[in-house]
Amino acid sequence: MGLFSKDIKTMDELFIHVMQDIYYTEKQIVKALPDMIDKTQNRELSAAFKKHYDETNIHVQRLERAFELMGEKPRATACPAIDGILKEANEISGNVDDRDVLDAALIAAAQAVEHYEITRYGTLISWSQELGKDAVGNLLTKTLNEEKATDKKLTSLAEKKINMKATG
Ligand SMILES: [Fe+2]
Ligand SMILES: [Fe+2]
Repeated sequence: MGLFSKDIKTMDELFIHVMQDIYYTEKQIVKALPDMIDKTQNRELSAAFKKHYDETNIHVQRLERAFELMGEKPRATACPAIDGILKEANEISGNVDDRDVLDAALIAAAQAVEHYEITRYGTLISWSQELGKDAVGNLLTKTLNEEKATDKKLTSLAEKKINMKATG
């Protein structure tokens, strides 16, 4: 269902719809991360993915709590945007000869995922302020901060690799 579906008439309904979208997204990420962890042989990158795997499970739980606070049953609605991003991530081969190229591709794919999450949570948090849903907004802000920290960590890992290469 698109954002401008006929079924969505109020801001509250739109809010719930985007929650269902990000709920689906987080659940798909939980499924996708183990494969990404398997593909890298870089210890730091693997540790970063594992840490975020644990955090992502908490993101799912926080959304369930947010649905509960809004008197709604947690429900996921398919999100073609994250499906495409994760499909690309899955297509990155674990058989690439050059490990640095593989890691660079994995980092790029993971950052695309984080940026998608950041845009969705950013929207929900600003709407939650407009709609007076402070408790929901506070919960989602915790998650947003973890998405941003993960994105930063991935940037620093990417830069570290480039610097190591430059200094040989
Ligand atoms: Fe997340
Ligand atoms: Fe994330």
